[in-house]
Amino acid sequence: MAERDTTNYYELFGGEPFFADLVSQFYARVATNEILRPMYPDEDMAGAAHRLQTFLAQYWGGPTTYQEERGHPRLRMRHAGFKIGPAAKDAWLTCMRQAVEGMEMQPEAQEKLWRYLEGAAEHLLNSFED
Ligand code: HEM
Repeated sequence: MAERDTTNYYELFGGEPFFADLVSQFYARVATNEILRPMYPDEDMAGAAHRLQTFLAQYWGGPTTYQEERGHPRLRMRHAGFKIGPAAKDAWLTCMRQAVEGMEMQPEAQEKLWRYLEGAAEHLLNSFED
């Protein structure tokens, strides 16, 4: 039987400072991306960054702040109001790829994080058109 993976990735990646840095790098790119920028709330970019940061931290085994503040993630439902076609998905992944590549971390850890993000973005596609 395969052994259960009990690694705490939240700690392995670098805890809160890691997720804060990753998300801040990501939003710095979203802010200048012509496809993504109009999709995000002008008046609440800090709020959007906080939501993504707490979600990712929780997903990887960190504090459950996201759940306490927002309830069950239901990410497909929460993205249903945004048209996410191939171009938006690619733009999101390009911004995130640059953010992930800017982080100092072990290559295996980076690969694991990246594979998850790619899969999650694919899952959130909700339109065949851009
Ligand atoms: C596929 C491309 C994606 C696009 C275009 C996109 C776009 C957006 C937009 C416009 C918002 C609203 C910002 C806000 O006010 O919070 C949002 C929220 C959010 N996104 Fe995405 N997103 C994408 C992929 C992802 C992925 C892959 C994840 C997770 C790994 C994710 C996690 C979240 C979370 C946690 C929120 C906040 C949900 C809430 O609590 O309301 N998104 N996204």
